[in-house]
Amino acid sequence: MKKLIIWTKSFLIFFICNIANIVLIFANDSTLCFDRPDPLKPYYLERVSCPMVTENETYSNLKRDTNMFNLTFICGINDQTLCKKVKSAFESAEKILSDTILFKQTVNVNATFTNICAAYGACNTVNSGIETQVIGGAAPSRVMMLRDDDGVNRFYPQSLVKQLGNTNHPKYSDYDINAIFNSENVSYWFKEDGNIKYNQIDMEMVILHELVHGLGFISSLNDYMNDPPKGLTPYVIGILNTTGTNYHFIEDMFDKLMSVVSTGQSVSDIVKQMDVFGDVQYVTPESFTITFESSPQYKLATDLFSKATIPNSLSLLSGDDTIILETSLTPYNYKSSIGHFSYQEYSNTSDFLMRYSVEHGVTLQQYVAMGGNYANGPIGPKLRAFLKSLGYTVRDSTSGTQIRISTIISKTKLIILSMLIISLMNFITSPCEINGFPL
Ligand SMILES: *[C@@H]1O[C@H](CO)[C@@H](O)[C@H](O)[C@H]1NC(C)=O
Ligand SMILES: *[C@@H]1O[C@H](CO)[C@@H](O)[C@H](O)[C@H]1NC(C)=O
Ligand SMILES: *[C@@H]1O[C@H](CO)[C@@H](O)[C@H](O)[C@H]1NC(C)=O
Ligand SMILES: *[C@@H]1O[C@H](CO)[C@@H](O)[C@H](O)[C@H]1NC(C)=O
Ligand SMILES: *[C@@H]1O[C@H](CO)[C@@H](O)[C@H](O)[C@H]1NC(C)=O
Ligand SMILES: *[C@@H]1O[C@H](CO)[C@@H](O)[C@H](O)[C@H]1NC(C)=O
Ligand SMILES: [Zn+2]
Repeated sequence: MKKLIIWTKSFLIFFICNIANIVLIFANDSTLCFDRPDPLKPYYLERVSCPMVTENETYSNLKRDTNMFNLTFICGINDQTLCKKVKSAFESAEKILSDTILFKQTVNVNATFTNICAAYGACNTVNSGIETQVIGGAAPSRVMMLRDDDGVNRFYPQSLVKQLGNTNHPKYSDYDINAIFNSENVSYWFKEDGNIKYNQIDMEMVILHELVHGLGFISSLNDYMNDPPKGLTPYVIGILNTTGTNYHFIEDMFDKLMSVVSTGQSVSDIVKQMDVFGDVQYVTPESFTITFESSPQYKLATDLFSKATIPNSLSLLSGDDTIILETSLTPYNYKSSIGHFSYQEYSNTSDFLMRYSVEHGVTLQQYVAMGGNYANGPIGPKLRAFLKSLGYTVRDSTSGTQIRISTIISKTKLIILSMLIISLMNFITSPCEINGFPL
C-alpha cells in the first residue's frame, strides 16, 4: 500500500486590511476569544478572556525583505545538528511567507520539534484506508469573533486581526501560531543534505504547509456531536445566559469563502439557515444536540457531510479563482477532508502545497518545477488569491518594486458587540472528544 504522509487539518489566518467595507466589531469588554492549546487537536477550543486593549504604537511601516516571523523554537531531542537544521528550515519557510504577504506586525510562532508518537500513542495510523504517518500540525493559537462586512460573526485568526493594525483590539495571546512537528519515524530532508532519498520528505515544505494553516487556512466544519461523524456544522458555541445556555453556530473566516459546487450556494448561507437556536436556552449540551438533530435544520448538516465525501463538491471562491477542496476521502477524515486543496486536482500544479498529503522523495524545489516553475515560488496563484481574500495584503509579485503600501486601516471600525456579556466559562461543545491521534 502506498504510504502517504498526511498533514493535520490546521489553520491559517489572514487579514482584512485591503478589503473595502469590512466592519469589524469587537465587544468592548468581552470579545469572544478562544485559544487552541493543542495544534494536534484543532477542534478543541477554550474560551479565554481577551479584554480590549489600546496601543499607542501604529504599525504603518510595512517592511520588505524582512522575516516577519518571530519563532520560539523548542527542540525536544538530543541531536543538536538536527535541531539546527529544523530551525533553519523554519527560517526559509518564514522568509517565503514574508515575501508573499506584507505583514504589518510580527507573527509569533510557538514551535516544538519532538517525539509526538510517545505523547499521542501512535506514529502511524490508517486514514481513509491509507497508511499514514504523523508529521505534525499547526493552527492559530487564538481566534477572535468579529462581525464581518456582511453582518455575520466569524472567527478570525489572531495573526489576521493583528495585520488590521487597529490600536484598539482584543488582548492578543503571546503566540499567533502553535505548531508541533514529529521528530520520530519520519526521515526529513534538508537543503544542505544533497540529494533527497526515496523515503525522505522536505522539512521546509512541511513547515510551510503548516504555517499556512496557522495563518487561517482552516475550516470550522466538523461533527461536534457524533462519533463517527454524520453531520457537519461550524463551531457550536454555547453562550451562557442566566438560567441556561444559548447556542450558536459560528464559522471560521475560511468558511466565508466556501461554496457548494453543484448549487453555488455559499456555506455561510447554509450556516445562517442552521443558526436558528439562539433564542432558546438549553440546560445541557446534550439537550441542545437532541433538539438540533431532530430539527429540520439537521438535514443541512447531513447534506454538508455527504458533500464532504464526494469529489468536487466544495470549493473556495476567492476573486476570480476557484479552489476545489479535498472531498474525495472516504470515510470523511476530520483532519484531512475539506481543509485542503484537492489532491487530485492540484498535484503537479503550482498550487500543490495545501494538498493533504505529500509524497516521499520530492523536494519543495522539485514540486515547484513539476508545477511549471511558478515565478512566485511555492505559494501558488490560487493560494495567494485565497490569502488575499481572507484579508492579508499579498504582494503583487516577487519582483517586488511595485508594492503598494496600503492605507488600509481607516475603514475598520470598532463597534461594541453587546450580546456577549458572559460571566462564566463558555465552551465549544465537543461531545465527540477528539482523541488526538497525531496526523
Ligand atoms: C499610551 O499613551 C498614554 C498617554 O500618552 C500613556 O498614558 C500610556 O501609558 C501609553 N500606553 C502604552 C501601552 O504605552
Ligand atoms: C508552546 O507549545 C508547546 C508545545 O505544543 C506547549 O506545551 C506550550 O504550552 C505552548 N506555549 C504557549 C504559551 O502556548
Ligand atoms: C518508530 O521508530 C522506532 C525506532 O526506529 C521503532 O522502534 C518503532 O517501531 C517505530 N514506530 C512506529 C509506529 O513506526
Ligand atoms: C517574540 O515572541 C516572544 C514570545 O511571545 C515575545 O516575548 C517577544 O516580545 C516577541 N518579539 C517580538 C519582536 O515581537
Ligand atoms: C438569554 O436568553 C434570553 C431568552 O432565551 C434571550 O432573549 C437573551 O438574548 C439571552 N441573553 C444572552 C446574553 O444571550
Ligand atoms: C503527477 O505527475 C507524476 C509524474 O508525471 C505522476 O506519476 C502522478 O500520477 C501525477 N499525480 C497526479 C495526482 O496526477
Ligand atoms: Zn494540512
